Amino acid sequence: MPKEMLPVVDRPVIQYVVEEAVAAGADDILIVTGRTKRAVEDHFDLSPELVTAEPIPAMVELDRLTERATVHFVRQRQPKGLADAIACAERHVGKEPFGVLLGDTINVCDPPLLAQLSRRFKELGSRKSVVAVELVPDSKVSDYGIVDGKEVRSGVYEVRHLVEKPPLAEAPSRLGITGAYLLTPTIFDAIRQIEPGRNGELQLTDALNVLAEREGVYAVTFDGVRYDIGDRFIWLKTNLEFALKDPELRERLVPLLRSLRP
Ligand code: G1P
Repeated sequence: MPKEMLPVVDRPVIQYVVEEAVAAGADDILIVTGRTKRAVEDHFDLSPELVTAEPIPAMVELDRLTERATVHFVRQRQPKGLADAIACAERHVGKEPFGVLLGDTINVCDPPLLAQLSRRFKELGSRKSVVAVELVPDSKVSDYGIVDGKEVRSGVYEVRHLVEKPPLAEAPSRLGITGAYLLTPTIFDAIRQIEPGRNGELQLTDALNVLAEREGVYAVTFDGVRYDIGDRFIWLKTNLEFALKDPELRERLVPLLRSLRP
């Protein structure tokens, strides 16, 4: 099963990701799928078997979502890296800046993360790509793209260089790329110029380095919490945290958790 389809309480991760983009004002969503990810496409279809007399809340939200935004799909022929996945969107995107979110990461942010990135993008002149970053612990540095930058105002870094998943000793900072981006369409040319990098994949981080040299890139911190569902403990934690926000589930879950206390 694709990890984008892992359920968190009552809906798959990908639905949270689309909800987040729509909450930020996106009305045109392109999901890059691929082999073994067909379930992602099916999820956004109407499911007659789930149309019940008493509407299922998650289904009602899904309907609302598909009314507010058009969801398109394109398939990546081979899993050749994040930059290659983004290249699949070139025709769809055309010549405008666009937002990117990862299909396995939920951001709980107010305002929504893409809205925060878009505000920064405008504040900073609407010409340079903006990358969301947060401080990561030493033990996690080698799991992230890491930023070497100069802080030009609180929470805004002018990127000198980015390194994809460096060993701790070679990391230029502890600022990790969280996987949300507001990119200028020049990224597509930059992707054409890079060679396979870390893990033999076309890395978005490397393409952003091309942009950093050519037109500049900003890294910005944001308000909110990120849940990387690809990690099984975080997946479990997210389920518990989200369930505790639902009054009906909370009422039943709290006594259960108390009774489990060692
Ligand atoms: C991708 C990016 C990396 C970023 C990370 C965030 O890596 O390449 O720069 O820090 O997402 O989750 P992945 O996790 O897909 O290997």
